[in-house]
Amino acid sequence: MAEENKSSLDPLAALCKRRGFIYHSSEIYGGMPGFWDYGPLGCELKQNVKQAWWQFTVRGREDVAGLDATIIMHPRIWKASGHLDTFADPMTMCKECKKLMRADQIADILAEQKKKPVPHNPEGTLSCPYCGGEMTEPKPFNLMFKTVVGPIDDPSNVAYLRPETAQAIFAQFQNVTSTSRMAVPYGIAQMGKSFRNEVTPRNYTFRSREFEQMELEFFIRPDEAVEILHGRVVTLADNPDLNGPVQDDWGWEVWHKYWVEQRKKFLNAVGLPTEHFVEYWQKPDELAHYARACVDIEYDFPFGRQELEGIAARSDFDLSQHQKWSGESQMVFDDPLKQAAKKMDENAKAAFIEKVQADWVRRGKDVEAARKFCLNLFDGKYIPHVIEPSAGVDRLMLALLCEAYEEQKLVDEKGKEDIRTVLHFSPKVAPIKVAIFPLIKKDPDQDRIAREIFTKLQKKVNVMWDVSGAIGRRYRRQDEAGTPWCITIDAQTVADGTFTVRERDSMQQKRMTYPEFLAMMYDALEF
Ligand code: GAP
Repeated sequence: MAEENKSSLDPLAALCKRRGFIYHSSEIYGGMPGFWDYGPLGCELKQNVKQAWWQFTVRGREDVAGLDATIIMHPRIWKASGHLDTFADPMTMCKECKKLMRADQIADILAEQKKKPVPHNPEGTLSCPYCGGEMTEPKPFNLMFKTVVGPIDDPSNVAYLRPETAQAIFAQFQNVTSTSRMAVPYGIAQMGKSFRNEVTPRNYTFRSREFEQMELEFFIRPDEAVEILHGRVVTLADNPDLNGPVQDDWGWEVWHKYWVEQRKKFLNAVGLPTEHFVEYWQKPDELAHYARACVDIEYDFPFGRQELEGIAARSDFDLSQHQKWSGESQMVFDDPLKQAAKKMDENAKAAFIEKVQADWVRRGKDVEAARKFCLNLFDGKYIPHVIEPSAGVDRLMLALLCEAYEEQKLVDEKGKEDIRTVLHFSPKVAPIKVAIFPLIKKDPDQDRIAREIFTKLQKKVNVMWDVSGAIGRRYRRQDEAGTPWCITIDAQTVADGTFTVRERDSMQQKRMTYPEFLAMMYDALEF
């Protein structure tokens, strides 16, 4: 986004509405806060973002399988995961103006207001940032949307719209493991809708009530199992090569950092340069009690630096919880581990148990549980630990739109100034890949050849046909849509088959044959 547009989303939001990227949901009835619809260009961008993630995370790897689970699941899943009891924001209401807000966001609202005329607000975070009125005591407000399954509206039929896609992966872990025939370390990926009844949805699509997530649960051996197998556990202090193939002797810390690097590579590939986001490593007191580490990838949105996605090392918390609440074992059997343990004599096993117990006690865990855990390991059994890269589709789309948006000042040969609004999308996510223009609409040969090329390309990528207006105006329309290439069919095409390809960012034009264009396009689209 150009410097002068950085402080506001307004020009981008206007373009998104005008060109059919994003609309208010139910707009003709006044809209619904926190709900957004994607128009013709927006839904293409969304498809491309999701496809890119799936290609990078699932199809492009040997160690990840996919899942597509239901949005409404057994309510006990949310008891086991902790969402029923703790997935809440502190809600407070102004006693004067009755506005509801999250107590932890009052400071942000005040910070935003510094840019605008500030209403009377003497007490900072303790009073209403809008009218200065007294606030009620903050109360936890559970963010899950409730619904009723079946025709009888009874508390026993209450279910919830999932607030994250992740839990379905844990709930189906045993099924996927046995049917995919994959062994730990391996991952299960899922994309799909999630719902959170956010107290204050804000910043355009950034915090919505209905949104999509792309989540990977990558299951790894506990470090203790790695130690039995390899006699050591590789940590970050060993400076492992995170760009090469994954290694069997990596500990959780290395796997976690590996996935942070993978996510950064993905973000680069879809058009976010590394220098525009930061890795925020949560401090020990910020971590959830079960998490060993969590990194937020934060992006500089026009409304401030905010979380784009997160990569958490969640230990064996989730599967252990589901084992406890469902009564179904969530252990895996790891034959190489059992074979390695067989080679340990009784003394080595006793020393191993002692070491694990000392480590667990240091981490505030139970000595007897440590012993049982070791005995299971010697049998080749454990509950896998998990690394969770969790991204939001809508939030990534917003970042890509912010990153791509530019109002360029151009000066023509006669010195006349003009503004070109352009979306510099990576071709990999651009909603339209190619626009085809017959130079002279009424020329039957140009029209025929243009149609042939259009039809051929339509079978491969999303193509746009445009015959109306001067070529310059057609280019500008495509610049606003973020189309990387425009092909113009002219008299020379009729004579020798070559056509003009105009590249969006450089505005350079080049004559190419169809095979040359295809090779160039595929090269740019490949992951
Ligand atoms: N399973 C872990 C999990 O759900 P999270 O940090 O709550 O973690 C992960 O959500 C990602 O989902 C966020 O980084 C963000 O990209 C997206 N997300 C979460 N809440 C959202 C909301 N209300 N609107 C849009 N995207 C959201």
